[in-house]
Amino acid sequence: MIGHGPAMREVYDMTRQVAPSSATVLLLGETGTGKELIAKAIHQLSPRSTGPFIRVNCGALSDSLLESELFGHVKGAFTNAYENRTGRFEAAHGGTIFLDEINSISYTLQVKLLRVLQEHEFERVGDTKTISVDCRIVAATNRDLNEMVERNQFREDLFYRLNVLPIYLPPLRDRAEDIPALVEHFAKRYAPDMKRTPLEPTPEAIECLQRYLWPGNVRELENYIERANVLAPTPQLTPELLPAHLRGQAPVRLGRAQRSSIDALCTELVNLGLSTVQEEGQAYEQVIGRVEKELLLQVLRSYQGTQTKAASRLGINRNTLHKKVEDYGLQGEVR
Ligand SMILES: Nc1ncnc2c1ncn2[C@@H]1O[C@H](COP(=O)(O)OP(=O)(O)OP(=O)(O)O)[C@@H](O)[C@H]1O
Ligand SMILES: [Mg+2]
Repeated sequence: MIGHGPAMREVYDMTRQVAPSSATVLLLGETGTGKELIAKAIHQLSPRSTGPFIRVNCGALSDSLLESELFGHVKGAFTNAYENRTGRFEAAHGGTIFLDEINSISYTLQVKLLRVLQEHEFERVGDTKTISVDCRIVAATNRDLNEMVERNQFREDLFYRLNVLPIYLPPLRDRAEDIPALVEHFAKRYAPDMKRTPLEPTPEAIECLQRYLWPGNVRELENYIERANVLAPTPQLTPELLPAHLRGQAPVRLGRAQRSSIDALCTELVNLGLSTVQEEGQAYEQVIGRVEKELLLQVLRSYQGTQTKAASRLGINRNTLHKKVEDYGLQGEVR
């Protein structure tokens, strides 16, 4: 895996530490952060590496299909069950089973899964015979399971069982230091497709890439390098070869995780704001006022106090901004 900044080094350390045991590992992180790569690494670094590595995408199958996929079924268990079938848990015996998108399994299946986690045994669908398996469970989620537990969408007991050894994969926007190495890696990987030398990013291109928020994380970066590799007339990766929204010339599409964390932040902010405003009838003005003041400060600071630029970034009139700066007394606060 590429990227050796402090954030990823912690991930690699954890991976090496947990690999030798048989304990359940839960991989957390936004889409495209490398959860599947880590799941495979855990298997490869474990004493089970010669055994099977079985991946099941829990989000891709309906409830009943997933149940028979995981646990198998016997002939006649349901319509279309013409033959006995072994499930993925049995197939993973002696190895590792990777339960991807564990957040999408139904409440009913969660109960059955809990039992496998606790006792390592289950029955095939339609059968009474109990089967024991020896497999290591690695699960992944790109949703916040804590929040799902609070909303009664995920069983608390299963969550605790899964969450024995959590590994959190940081989003790419929090590890901009890894971007140059990732670009180099993907440029090398895709160059042979076009029979060219690997693209080399200009400093401006790196700056663009490091400023962007990466809702799709490493997968998104990989796609842009593949695209640039096809389009580039010379071996230079310039900003023009990157999509317009990376150059600030089109709106950025936020990922689900970012949207929901913004929503969560707003809710918390409003609750905190409301609980600190005691005077009857002033809540609206005070809460909105604080948010507005913070917004103005942040934008003014990012333009070193230049009001014309800040007003244009905010899309408000320069005189309006000037008046707000005076009303809130912000002159002294902008460095
Ligand atoms: N650190 C890394 N170094 C090299 N390639 C990476 C790295 N992280 C992710 N990738 C690549 O990015 C793509 C997405 O990674 P992966 O499938 O592991 O993400 P994921 O976390 O499982 O995402 P999702 O939640 O969408 O399934 C893959 O092609 C993978 O090879
Ligand atoms: Mg994945």
